[in-house]
Amino acid sequence: MFSKAILPLALLAASASALSPPVKRATCSGGQTTANEACCVWFDVLDDIQENLFDGGDCGDEAHESLRLIFHDAIAFSPALTAAGKFGGGGADGSIMAHSDVEMQYAANNGLDDIIEAQRPFALKHNVSFGDFIQFAGAVGSANCNGGPQIQFFAGRSNDSQPAPDGLVPLPTDSVTDILNRVGDAGFSAVELVWMLVSHTVAAQDTVDSSIPGTPFDSTPKDFDAQFFVETMLNGTLTPGSSLQPGEVLSPYPGEFRLQSDALIGRDSRTACEWQKMIADRANMLQKFEQTVLKLSLLGFDQSTLTDCSDVIPTATGTVADPFLPAGKSMSDIEAACSATPFPSLSAVPGPETSIPPV
Ligand code: HEM
Ligand SMILES: *[C@@H]1O[C@H](CO)[C@@H](O)[C@H](O)[C@H]1NC(C)=O
Ligand SMILES: *[C@@H]1O[C@H](CO)[C@@H](O)[C@H](O)[C@H]1NC(C)=O
Ligand SMILES: *[C@@H]1O[C@H](CO)[C@@H](O)[C@H](O)[C@H]1NC(C)=O
Repeated sequence: MFSKAILPLALLAASASALSPPVKRATCSGGQTTANEACCVWFDVLDDIQENLFDGGDCGDEAHESLRLIFHDAIAFSPALTAAGKFGGGGADGSIMAHSDVEMQYAANNGLDDIIEAQRPFALKHNVSFGDFIQFAGAVGSANCNGGPQIQFFAGRSNDSQPAPDGLVPLPTDSVTDILNRVGDAGFSAVELVWMLVSHTVAAQDTVDSSIPGTPFDSTPKDFDAQFFVETMLNGTLTPGSSLQPGEVLSPYPGEFRLQSDALIGRDSRTACEWQKMIADRANMLQKFEQTVLKLSLLGFDQSTLTDCSDVIPTATGTVADPFLPAGKSMSDIEAACSATPFPSLSAVPGPETSIPPV
C-alpha cells in the first residue's frame, strides 16, 4: 500500500528535477539579478526614468500619460484593414514615436506630444526600440501608483515601423458600438474593454476641455483603486469647465471630469455588469488589467520571439482605500445599470462635498 503511493511521488520528484532547466540567472553590472542577460539594459533605463522622467518614482502626469501612450501605440492594429488589402498598423511597434510627425496629427492622439518628446531621448540614449520603451515606461509608471499593477514586460520589438493609419484609436465621442467594433477588430471582447479601462482610475484630461487641464476622471488619480468605476456611475449634475465639450458629459463632483465614452460604457447592457464587478474585487480588477495590458503590449508581435524582462518592473507600494462614495454623496446618486446584480453597497466619506484638486 505505502510503496504504491510513494513510488509515483518519488518518480515525479525525480523527473521534475531532471526536467527543470538549470537556474541561469544573469547578474547585471549594477548588481541586480534578472532571468536573462538581455534584460540588464532595462535596469539602467529604470533608474534613469524613475529619476528623470517620473520625478523620483511618482504616479503623476508623466506616469499617467505613459500608460495612455501604451494604448495609443498598440491599438493601432487592424486585421480588418489588412484583410481589405490596406496597411493595418503594426500594433505596439513604437510607430507613434517614430512617426510622431504623422500620428500626432490624429485627433485621438491629442495631448500625447509632450510625453512622446519627453520619452524619446531616453529611448535613444539607452539604444532600445521605441516600441519596447513605450511598453516599459507604461508598466513602470503604473507601478508608481499606489496599489499599482504588475504589468509584465517583454523586450525585443523591432524598431522598424510605418505610420499607423488614422481612425484606429477610439475617441470619447464614439458610440459604444463603434468602440466595441474597433477594439473587437484588434482582438478584444467587451469585458476586455472594461478591463483596459481600469487605466482611467489613474487619469486626467488636458485637451477635451483645454481650459481646465489636469481635471481627473475620479477623486483618487494616484491610486489604482476602483473609484473610477464608482464615480462614473454617480448621477452627472455639473460642468467642471465653463461649458460641455464634445466627448464630455456632466460630471458628478466639483473638479472631476467625465468622458462621454466612459459614461456610456458604464451604462451599456454589454459592459455594465463587468463595470460594476470591478468595484467588488480589487485583486480581480488588477489581475484582469494586467492580463489585458499584456495582450495590448503584444499586438503585432509574437510573444515567443520576445524576452521576458518582467522581473525588472518594480513592485508597486502604497495602499488604497476600499471603494467609497465621495463626501456628500449617497447610494441614491448611483445610476446602477447592471440588471443581473445589485450595485455594491458603499458608504460615503463623512463631511461636506469638496472640490478635487487638479493633478
Ligand atoms: C474607449 C477607449 C478609450 C477612450 C475613448 C479614451 C479616451 C481618453 C481621453 C479623451 C483622455 C483624455 C486625454 C487628454 O485630454 O489629455 C484619456 C486619458 C487617459 N487614458 Fe484613455 N481612453 C480609452 C481607453 C484607454 C485605455 C485602454 C488606456 C490604457 C490602457 C487609457 C489610458 C488613459 C490614461 C492613463 C489617461 C490619462 C492621461 C493623463 O492623465 O494625462 N485609455 N483617455
Ligand atoms: C529607432 O528608430 C529611430 C528612427 O525612427 C532612430 O532614431 C533610433 O536610433 C532607432 N533606435 C534603435 C535602437 O535602433
Ligand atoms: C543600437 O542598437 C542597434 C539595433 O539593436 C544596433 O545595431 C547598434 O549596434 C546599437 N548601437 C550601439 C551604440 O550599441
Ligand atoms: C440626478 O440629478 C438631477 C439634478 O440634481 C435630479 O433632478 C435627478 O433626479 C437625479 N437623478 C437620479 C437618478 O438621482
